[in-house]
Amino acid sequence: MPDAARRPVRHRHVLILGGTAEARRLATTLAADPSLRVTSSLAGRVAAPRLPAGEVRIGGFGGPEGLARWLREHAVDVLIDATHPFAGTISFHAAQAAATAHVPLLALRRPGWVPGPGDDWHPVASLDEAAAVLPTLTLPGARRVFLTTGRMGLAHFAHLADHWFLVRSVDAPEPPHPPHMTTLLDRGPFTLDGERELLRTHRIDVLVTKDSGAAATAPKLTAAREAGVPVVLVRRPPTPTGVPEAATPEEAATWLRHLFNEATTAN
Ligand SMILES: NC(=O)c1ccc[n+]([C@@H]2O[C@H](COP(=O)([O-])OP(=O)(O)OC[C@H]3O[C@@H](n4cnc5c(N)ncnc54)[C@H](OP(=O)(O)O)[C@@H]3O)[C@@H](O)[C@H]2O)c1
Repeated sequence: MPDAARRPVRHRHVLILGGTAEARRLATTLAADPSLRVTSSLAGRVAAPRLPAGEVRIGGFGGPEGLARWLREHAVDVLIDATHPFAGTISFHAAQAAATAHVPLLALRRPGWVPGPGDDWHPVASLDEAAAVLPTLTLPGARRVFLTTGRMGLAHFAHLADHWFLVRSVDAPEPPHPPHMTTLLDRGPFTLDGERELLRTHRIDVLVTKDSGAAATAPKLTAAREAGVPVVLVRRPPTPTGVPEAATPEEAATWLRHLFNEATTAN
């Protein structure tokens, strides 16, 4: 038997830092390639997460050093940061760990939303700033807020006792949170009809959201525009510089193929 036939096949190991629909789509694409070993990493925030294709590990790594160790110990060939645009810490950890472990890194980051004619958007830098502008956008008697910024940041709105909040989140929020609040446990994708109905039945005066850029959650912006509801839009946190970016899972898969082809040609 020739040597090459006896040699065990070495799968290239791709680690995807996930927690987004795009990360799951990328995992599905890559897991279908028999030459790859694909592991997705989830932070463990959601009680019953949607599991991606391929292998899955759950929980923090213990900072950038822990992630660098994990990359080395599991012989990771490529790291893909496909975390949510508002997961501000892990992206910096990924950049630091990839540099330490000498592993190529790609950031899969969907573009932010772009306002269109008729949109009444009020960009803010943080949840605190969102809470500060709310009283300026709402009048007494018209202070019904649809809050879709996630259950983790509700403490920033906890002091707004004159407002009523409709909070939509995947898992139930815990205190501290605003005193007047109704929770809607749900996760996207959401439909335009559904969002229109929600704004209407709950008589929403203002929408607060993060600029996640996700298609699955964009219909609320269209519904808000149609209903003349102002939107407080929390801008994205900074990302590490010098990291190549892909806007879609397809672009990320192409980048990866080029990288592996180049490596094969060089060997
Ligand atoms: N922030 C949002 O609005 C949002 C929305 C939807 C989904 N998500 C997803 O939820 C996760 C947590 O978000 P976050 O805002 O809490 O993140 P973060 O503030 O950037 O990260 C905090 C810590 O959580 C751990 N971590 C984050 N993402 C991880 C991952 N994919 N795998 C393993 N550990 C991870 C890391 O712990 P160690 O330092 O111990 O490694 C990190 O230092 C992310 O994976 C993100 O994709 C976030």
